[in-house]
Amino acid sequence: MFRQGSLASKSFARSFGAQRRLASTKTIREALEEVIPVKQAQLKQLKAEHGQAVLGDVKVEQVLGGMRGLKAMLWDASVLDPLEGIRFHGKSIPECQKTLPAAPGGKEIIAESMLWLLLTGKVPTEAEVRQLSAQLAEKGELPAHIEKLIDSLPKDLHPMTQLGMGVAALNQESVFAAAYEKGIKKTEYWTYALEDSINLIARLPALAARIFRNVYNPGAAIPGINKELDLVGNYVNMLGYGGNHDLTEYLRLYISIHGDHEGGNASAHTAHLVGSTLADPYLAYSAALYALAGPLHGLANQEVLRWQLNMRKELGDNITHEHIKEFLWKTLKSGQVVPGYGHGVLRNPDPRFMALQEFCDTRPELLADPVIQLVKKTYDVAPGVLTEHGKTKNPYPNVDAASGCVLYHYGLTQFKYYTVIFGVSRALGCVTQLVWARALGLPLERPKSLSIDAIEKLIKS
Ligand SMILES: CC(C)(COP(=O)(O)OP(=O)(O)OC[C@H]1O[C@@H](n2cnc3c(N)ncnc32)[C@H](O)[C@@H]1OP(=O)(O)O)[C@@H](O)C(=O)NCCC(=O)NCCS
Repeated sequence: MFRQGSLASKSFARSFGAQRRLASTKTIREALEEVIPVKQAQLKQLKAEHGQAVLGDVKVEQVLGGMRGLKAMLWDASVLDPLEGIRFHGKSIPECQKTLPAAPGGKEIIAESMLWLLLTGKVPTEAEVRQLSAQLAEKGELPAHIEKLIDSLPKDLHPMTQLGMGVAALNQESVFAAAYEKGIKKTEYWTYALEDSINLIARLPALAARIFRNVYNPGAAIPGINKELDLVGNYVNMLGYGGNHDLTEYLRLYISIHGDHEGGNASAHTAHLVGSTLADPYLAYSAALYALAGPLHGLANQEVLRWQLNMRKELGDNITHEHIKEFLWKTLKSGQVVPGYGHGVLRNPDPRFMALQEFCDTRPELLADPVIQLVKKTYDVAPGVLTEHGKTKNPYPNVDAASGCVLYHYGLTQFKYYTVIFGVSRALGCVTQLVWARALGLPLERPKSLSIDAIEKLIKS
């Protein structure tokens, strides 16, 4: 465990410094050192010149309704437009697919490319991405005490509970916490937050794979980190699916485009709030994972598959659109939500859903899969049924409507595990904001709460 700022700095220099540099390539830290002063100056000017400007009113229905639409958070890396969907630093998913480097021999965006874009706002070069992959691979092994902790957990403890525990326990080696305890300048916070963040991302695949092995495949050997591979390539190897190129490519895409979804979603917001207390990135992200574990958020992807498989079990193989409509109504009339449909912000089909559908469209074996066909057929009729039902503000599919069925096709059938994969992904956006919040010196988050009486009194006055 680091308990010395100087040690932490040395390790940082080792990991991010010139030694591992590929020819004419910036490290992620150097890339950030270029952009952080620009943003700091922009923020300072904004605060000084427009600190009192009004961004909007707060309606009672927003306070009572989960703060929907309340403009109250600073978040730079991605913006979610209700109709168009997500953009990462201004780039749509198709634009990211065109410009961000893929893995050698692959076509899909990789996590390293997305992390670089989110953190720096810049499209990395291929050499920069390879260098980041090498850094992550070098840091990817789990500390022995984490392996011991995960191995000691009951096998029927939900994989998400295990993931959150493992991430929290990684904070034993937080360089941010160690440096803070020793006493560092506020202007240096971000460098330690960055080192923790990179270490966290590097270790997530090994942690997530160990949970998978323990719960579903006890006794199986987990391959070591291959230093030539990207983060997701290693993750798939450690899950035991190495050599499945299509699954690897799918997970590269899925993990990249799931990485960030603006700041107000429950997991991102939780990381931001907890990080604002200056809890280290491990603790902040552990908290975020437990938000992700809720069925209205990340757990929906396991629920979608369970629901689709139930539909198949009940209706047999030759399912028509009429059958699906009946099943949808049955779900709604029993007071349940249709999993994979609706969204807190989106008012159109989720472009992440569309990107995953396009992945399927290029592979005949996926198109022939009955569960994937069912997802497509459900998409044909569910928006109409949900509109007729008249409750949800968005009758269209979100990303979870498609994500699990492709994993299922490739043999990753343990759907209780799916949210863990989401958890490996969402770290990309959360750590980005933790680094930037420290770089911009953002304060402790502390909104004002009101009682029902106080709201009534305010209205009367
Ligand atoms: C995502 C979700 C939580 C957004 O919630 P929200 O912002 O409150 O959504 P809305 O404002 O459209 O909700 C209005 C009403 O429609 C209902 N509704 C929303 N989505 C629905 C769905 N897929 N099926 C049935 N009813 C739905 C809500 O439960 C709410 O009902 P209520 O007034 O009785 O409480 C919601 O759409 C949902 O539960 N979807 C299913 C789970 C899911 O796919 N989650 C993954 C999100 S990425």
